[in-house]
Amino acid sequence: MLNAEFRTILVFNHPTIQPSNLSTVQLFTFIFAPSTTPTIRTIPTIRTIPTIKTIPTMKTVKTPKKLTNILCIGAGYVGGPTMAMIAKKCPDRKVTVVDINAERIAAWQSDALPFYEPGLKEVVAETLGRNLFFSTDIPAAIAEADVVFVAVNTPTKTFGQGAGRAADLQYWEKTAHEIRECATHDLIVVEKSTLPVRTATAMKRVLESGGAHRFEVLSNPEFLAEGTAIADLEKPDRVLVGSDETPTGAAAREAVVDIYAEWVPRDRILTTNVWSSELSKLAANAFLAQRISSVNALTELCERTGADVDEVARAIGRDSRIGPKFLRAGVGFGGSCFKKDILNLVYLCEQRGLTEAAAYWNSVVEMNEHQETRFVAEMVHAMFNTVAGKRIAILGYAFKADTSDTRETPAKVVADLLAEERAQLVVCDPYALPNARKELARHGDLVSFEEDPYTAVEGADAVAVLTDWRQFPELDWARIFARMRKPAFVFDGRNCLDRRELFELGFHVRAIGKAPLSHFA
Ligand code: NAD
Ligand code: UGA
Repeated sequence: MLNAEFRTILVFNHPTIQPSNLSTVQLFTFIFAPSTTPTIRTIPTIRTIPTIKTIPTMKTVKTPKKLTNILCIGAGYVGGPTMAMIAKKCPDRKVTVVDINAERIAAWQSDALPFYEPGLKEVVAETLGRNLFFSTDIPAAIAEADVVFVAVNTPTKTFGQGAGRAADLQYWEKTAHEIRECATHDLIVVEKSTLPVRTATAMKRVLESGGAHRFEVLSNPEFLAEGTAIADLEKPDRVLVGSDETPTGAAAREAVVDIYAEWVPRDRILTTNVWSSELSKLAANAFLAQRISSVNALTELCERTGADVDEVARAIGRDSRIGPKFLRAGVGFGGSCFKKDILNLVYLCEQRGLTEAAAYWNSVVEMNEHQETRFVAEMVHAMFNTVAGKRIAILGYAFKADTSDTRETPAKVVADLLAEERAQLVVCDPYALPNARKELARHGDLVSFEEDPYTAVEGADAVAVLTDWRQFPELDWARIFARMRKPAFVFDGRNCLDRRELFELGFHVRAIGKAPLSHFA
């Protein structure tokens, strides 16, 4: 018999012993320290154990057969869509999402969801009030939950030890305290947030400090990408669930796997230990971002040699060992996670003295920063080394298409640098203008905002495309050219326009990783 939590094994020293015959049993307790050799403590007296079920030391997390009350703490880009999908696919389970942000919770319950994500509105409309509920009453929700997913933010720390690299775990730790204080029975707690490897240990320590209940801490990182979140959740490449490799850990893991198995084929649900699961999430983001930085690291050479980075990506992507995805060169990767997760990985390596590994991963972020700043340098250089007073239309502010999210968007870096050069900016984006207004407010009159691209380009000297919104290539570029001051420049930071067509219309065109097209001799 194995008590997973205390790693205690009760051993009966007689080979023929039967439960009905327990009075003659000598009891040994083996206590394992994690990853050390077991030590044996012999309990000196011979004890009578009436039945196995009543052994008082058998403290294990009682996992219900089916997790019918699902709670998620954190109603953000991950918590909201993920739980909406679970509610859609598991109509006989109740899913509650809580948050400390009352405004966000109110938005989830309204027609104006907190952010734009294709297909999300429909999933929420189908499930809200049926088996999907949003609330700010966190204690009540914890009290009735069978399983708690934690999907709070884990941003880069801005202060103290590890500032600028380590993950800020304060929000996550607050939830651990709250769960401990409000739990009414044993619980499975699932890390949905992206966390440093070995966070589950800390979580368990907080959860089991003085509380009456026991907790099984699992890792189930989320791999959805914004803009395609619903499709990613509906048909994930894989779902990953990590647990302690103990019977109770495995039981909890199976119960969580069963939730996903309601719509995800079992062979796409991977199980592993907690540490591998935690690190796999950081590693996946680091690999994806590394591919972008690798292709971006070729762009300057392409621009100077006449090679075309898209052609190079097409050629290398046909190698089945490399594959075609995530090889789109551009102004740089944005989003709330790539930079933060790589910096977290860098910090984890540094903490363990792994200098070379830390430097390797850090270079992915450095390359990205270089790509953003050199884009502006090229703009200024092309426009005769001054953009002061020039009107520049920025088409696209979101960090990628199909989202209103602007966290770590390269467009902000570009806008900030151009505003420092005293350019007159007009920012245009179909969904991200509310965020842009807040984030660029400090530039005052140097920046204005416009929903209509044709109005945005009126009298402009240059257009910079910074988000690959589908509508931008489809604009009437002859009409845009006619409205602009001459010479008219286009800087395509996402390689989404037909640059030869633009050149023929009269534009001077620069695209990432392609030789410039200029009408100047
Ligand atoms: P987010 O900022 O959009 O949402 C987090 C929410 O948690 C916020 O609404 C916040 O108010 C709430 N919160 C914070 N502390 C709380 C507390 N103590 N109690 C209740 N609510 C609390 O963040 P996000 O983008 O959803 O990311 C969440 C986690 O998921 C992060 O670790 C991130 O790295 C990871 N992740 C994000 C994405 C993504 O596409 N955004 C994808 C995969 C993984
Ligand atoms: C990324 C990962 O793709 C998700 O798997 C992960 O769950 C998520 O981070 C996370 O942990 O937050 P996301 O940032 O939402 O998702 O969007 P991506 O599609 O990965 O794009 C990130 C950035 O890279 C965007 O700015 C995009 O324009 C840029 N990108 C992407 C390129 O420049 N080139 C490419 O080939 C692909």
